[in-house]
Amino acid sequence: MVSLVTAGLTVCLIYVLHKLVELRRLANSIGLPRFPLVSLGKHHIWEGKWNDAARFGWDVYSSVALLPPKGQISLYIADADVVQEVTGSRARFPKPVWMYSSLSFFGRNIVASEFEEWKKYRKLSAPSFSERNNKLVWDETVRIMLDLFDNVWQDRNVIAVDHCVDITLPIALFVIGVAGFGRRVSWKDDQVVPPGHRMTFKDALHVVSMNIFTRLIVPNWAMGFTKKTRELGQAFDELELYMDDMIRERRSGAVREERHDLFSSLMDAADDVNGEGGAGTLSDMDLKGNIFIFMLAGHETAAHTLAFTFGLLALYPQEQEVLYQQIMSIIPDGRTPTYEEMNLFTRSMAVFYETLRMFPPAPNMPKYSAEDTTLTFSNSEGERRTVPVPAGTNLLVNAPALHYNPRYWHDPYAFDPSRFLKPDWPREAFVPFSQGARACLGRRFFETEGIAVLTMLVSRYKIELADEPEFSSETFEQRKARLLRTRAGLTMTPIRLPLVFKRR
Ligand code: HEM
Repeated sequence: MVSLVTAGLTVCLIYVLHKLVELRRLANSIGLPRFPLVSLGKHHIWEGKWNDAARFGWDVYSSVALLPPKGQISLYIADADVVQEVTGSRARFPKPVWMYSSLSFFGRNIVASEFEEWKKYRKLSAPSFSERNNKLVWDETVRIMLDLFDNVWQDRNVIAVDHCVDITLPIALFVIGVAGFGRRVSWKDDQVVPPGHRMTFKDALHVVSMNIFTRLIVPNWAMGFTKKTRELGQAFDELELYMDDMIRERRSGAVREERHDLFSSLMDAADDVNGEGGAGTLSDMDLKGNIFIFMLAGHETAAHTLAFTFGLLALYPQEQEVLYQQIMSIIPDGRTPTYEEMNLFTRSMAVFYETLRMFPPAPNMPKYSAEDTTLTFSNSEGERRTVPVPAGTNLLVNAPALHYNPRYWHDPYAFDPSRFLKPDWPREAFVPFSQGARACLGRRFFETEGIAVLTMLVSRYKIELADEPEFSSETFEQRKARLLRTRAGLTMTPIRLPLVFKRR
């Protein structure tokens, strides 16, 4: 028995040593500065920002890992030209979709696919993110904010929230509920469970959206083990039932009016291609898979960006005042702004872009090399270098490193929205929505929602930091660091951001 174990261990050791030699050879063939033996986690990428690139002296560096998801060498990219090249050549640098397979709960979808399948989903989905959908997003966001002011905050002059996401998560969920799924959900109604269901739509959407991360890591067979996972399983089942209802209602003609939510538009596109002469079909599973992924892609990203934005404005009251003044110059009487006026709120957009630069919700966008190729990159000294990139190499577009790279951004740690008001701001070094053919489809959706939320809120309320005596001895930098702490979740997540909203 002992000798069997010894033999087994020896074989393992030889395997590991062999692997290490092989990896070293592979790494030397690329010849880039590197981290040894571990893939850098999301959080390291965020915490490291541009510092790793600075340490290595190049805006592309590597890690060589024994146990990566697939492939052994990873290149981290903080060079804007290389980002353009990688995101611009989909055939050479596709998305490693095996990393996303767990996102196909309800069906195949645009985020977790590549090549011909992705092309089909993108072609059918893109028209749903239309001007009419944007207008719906605006009008419904305004309605949701008025509902919050009138029916939840009512006549209170001071509203304290223990964690800002307690407000921003519901706002973003209600917006996606109506402009994505075509179902209005609001702060107070939706208490009645309809026949044939065990949860309201609002609760199913809420439980699913808040626990996707758990659902991703708990295998199907373990879902019945705890009360929480059983409830989560039920919420997923319920959301699917609701989506089945919506497909049936729309197909049966019960809902005939013209609708511009993403679900209705996607169904129209599906019915077109499923009819004669269509360029490929879209099953009900595909429909559910894609509409669910729109929610997944658009809920937390939007909610967390709103939260970081409010936090930064509370930390920098002078920036909030400049924003308030611009908003009031457009709506001096404090009336509700219209969709047609959206592009006038340039400062609101600049504030969002600055927040997204500093807190990109998706810190890295993975790709891989489909062939043996080369990449040429440079450093702050202007030196250039070309390295071989073997097929199978992982490539990570490193958003924090790019967004804090002083080659592109002056004083990158400063919160300075006005940098985005200059005509020549470095667009090529701004990747919160990714770039190229696979860039975010919901960018305008978010910008519309965000500007409506920010404009309505800042025109009526001042955002301030909560007064917490236990932290009274903190310096400004300590307070900022505490409030803007993050953890890596599905997207970059604020840990605790207590704020106060004071009526103006
Ligand atoms: C602050 C808000 C948002 C940010 C920062 C953001 C960021 C991103 C990023 C980085 C990607 C590329 C992911 C990758 O390649 O791995 C992406 C893709 C996508 N996003 Fe967004 N997103 C936001 C809001 C939204 C919203 C509101 C929706 C929908 C309602 C949405 C729908 C999508 C879709 C469908 C894709 C997949 C595109 C494709 O693969 O062709 N996003 N987003």
